[in-house]
Amino acid sequence: MEKQPKKYGFATRTIHAGQHPDPKTGALATPIYQTSTFVFPSVDQGAARFSGEDPGYIYTRIGNPTQAALEEKIAALEEGEAALAFGSGMAAITGTVLALVASGDHLLADATLYGCTHSFFSHLLSKFGVEVTFIDMADPKNVERELRENTRVVYFETPANPTMKLVDMAAVSRLAHRAGARVVVDNTFMSPYFQQPLNHGVDVVVHSATKFISGHGDVIAGVAVGSKDFLDAVRVSTLKDIGGVISPFDAWLLLRGLKTLVVRMERHNQNAIQVARFLESHPLVECVHYPGLASHPQHELAKRQMAGFGGLISFELRGGLEAGKRMLNSVRLCHLAVSLGDVDTLIQHPASMTHSAVPREERLRAGISDGLIRLSVGLEDVADIIEDLNQALAKSTLKKAINS
Ligand SMILES: Cc1ncc(COP(=O)(O)O)c(C=O)c1O
Repeated sequence: MEKQPKKYGFATRTIHAGQHPDPKTGALATPIYQTSTFVFPSVDQGAARFSGEDPGYIYTRIGNPTQAALEEKIAALEEGEAALAFGSGMAAITGTVLALVASGDHLLADATLYGCTHSFFSHLLSKFGVEVTFIDMADPKNVERELRENTRVVYFETPANPTMKLVDMAAVSRLAHRAGARVVVDNTFMSPYFQQPLNHGVDVVVHSATKFISGHGDVIAGVAVGSKDFLDAVRVSTLKDIGGVISPFDAWLLLRGLKTLVVRMERHNQNAIQVARFLESHPLVECVHYPGLASHPQHELAKRQMAGFGGLISFELRGGLEAGKRMLNSVRLCHLAVSLGDVDTLIQHPASMTHSAVPREERLRAGISDGLIRLSVGLEDVADIIEDLNQALAKSTLKKAINS
């Protein structure tokens, strides 16, 4: 898992990093090493692998050549020293955070987070004696005020799911480091193509690789990227002992998906900006949250720390929740489904779906209103996406929407 030489551009790395033609057969695509275990040449060598003297493979829960190829590619794309693949985004998040905190520690989290991350912090971590404070990190002064002597981790998403609020990664990292805390950022919404948090001072990047990294809506996976020492420790602690491992086949699907990351992200971005402008100009739409719009309150920060604005948009209708439900029940091309970052356009209602586990008061405080709609703009012809949204918006004013 060496750091990839910087001389290659990003697109070249999406294709070449981690890819080593099979020495026996010359196969160009990385083989799927669909094996649970690896044979030791001798007892002494088996023992050396367990002690770490011999870096060879032992058992797929701890490492596997297809996973290793993926980890090398992801590290090269996020410009990190090393990466670690997991069986889901939640496994990457829990595996990373549990390796950093112990009973008696404090974790500072942004208030706007993916629902299951919020739930992990508020229910599971507190069960094991880790105190969590949720604050609005859009203003770094809030971070400065809430950092404590025992704060071990500062955790946020930027843009946040689903409000598209941003956090200034460099400013928050500086404050956290001064207080001796590590910074973990969920970069799922941007992918490494549009944002590389490690280059802004962040310590560990996590992803739901289920989303843009896969890109095709056919795999559940996660990754963490950071220093080799830290990820080596995670591999032999939370990954090995909790077991949130990725299968070799799923690792191969991600290797395949990543080769088209650049062209996919460019198209997501192009389509999303047009859809965001359409929504912003529509008389039935109350507000649109997309960092690429000049109306986004953090548009300048977006231009500073992101290389593009991505495919995620959230918006509210003037008619509130009821109009939103009628709209969602009326889409024909867009799919009413959770997840994001797929080639297909997906639309969903966070309050009743992805963020339903967050208590209503907390949800509202985080800006996730009852009527908010989240849209993951896919790679279809943008005119078709806009036409579908337009006809669904027209139905949102009717008393009874038709889902056909
Ligand atoms: C921002 C973000 N992080 C993490 C996750 C969890 O990822 P997974 O579903 O792969 O476990 C999600 C899932 O939607 C997400 O949107």
